[in-house]
Amino acid sequence: MDLGLAGRACVVTGASSGIGRETALQLCAEGAKVLLVARGEERLAAVTGEAARAAEPARGAAAALALDVTAEDAGERMVAACEERFGSLDVLVNNAGAARWRDLDDVPDEDWRAQYELNVMAPLRAMRAAIPPMAERGWGRVVNVCSTAGKRPSAAMAEYSVAKAAELSLSRLFADRYAKTGVLVNAVAPGPVEAEMWMEPGGLLDQSMQISGAESRKEALAEAGSKRPIGRLAQPEEIAATIVFLCSERASYVAGAAWSVDGGTVQVII
Ligand SMILES: NC(=O)c1ccc[n+]([C@@H]2O[C@H](COP(=O)([O-])OP(=O)(O)OC[C@H]3O[C@@H](n4cnc5c(N)ncnc54)[C@H](OP(=O)(O)O)[C@@H]3O)[C@@H](O)[C@H]2O)c1
Repeated sequence: MDLGLAGRACVVTGASSGIGRETALQLCAEGAKVLLVARGEERLAAVTGEAARAAEPARGAAAALALDVTAEDAGERMVAACEERFGSLDVLVNNAGAARWRDLDDVPDEDWRAQYELNVMAPLRAMRAAIPPMAERGWGRVVNVCSTAGKRPSAAMAEYSVAKAAELSLSRLFADRYAKTGVLVNAVAPGPVEAEMWMEPGGLLDQSMQISGAESRKEALAEAGSKRPIGRLAQPEEIAATIVFLCSERASYVAGAAWSVDGGTVQVII
């Protein structure tokens, strides 16, 4: 299937790791021109190199922008950098995120605020800067990477769950506002992914062991997988494939959706 992404100018936030990295690589392989955004410059440069190599056969391109998406001017800076490098901005993927496990009572105010900044204010500012020019040109795609935790709160990730629920609502508001202009805004709600956020030392897998009492990482991973109808965690490329489809020409009648990519975890039929 031709996704019609060749030559499209894209911004992917949180592109130096996990889901964002895979999304950038897949967009590049489709011939898109991708601005990869994250804070840590070294890892971002390495992934941008990978993305540039993935782009070569389809004549796509990759460039890096080291930026904290929670900065007040981050939206404008991403749009300006993408326009300067690639001439326009057609596709925005708001993916940057972070999570940790702990009890509801142990979450300080500053962490509630930080998750709101990262999952609500940052995508809001990015959409406010990116969407009006897309609407003027009559074509655009935005994908907001939310979570199953936004559809039904995860007891061990309270502030993250509430912020992701707000991000789903925000995504729907922008979808309704702009669908008639040709700018289609959607969300995805992934379940747990076997990538850095879960797997790195001290990551969610290790944190889950402290709560569940699992005796090894292997046992904890099997337990986390067994809670899904599909019986395992996702691979980052499985989430990225859905994001890339929603960015594509082929998703031309999808607007305001909150697609679960969770192996059947959240048992709702709407
Ligand atoms: N992994 C899962 O199980 C899972 C499940 C459901 C939903 N999600 C969501 O999927 C998205 C991606 O998750 P992931 O697992 O791929 O995460 P990850 O591997 O930990 O990568 C997070 C990315 O975001 C960047 N980032 C974090 N804070 C940032 C900031 N303030 N400004 C700019 N970049 C920032 C990180 O780079 P720097 O630290 O260098 O900035 C990194 O590139 C997140 O929104 C997450 O909530 C993940």
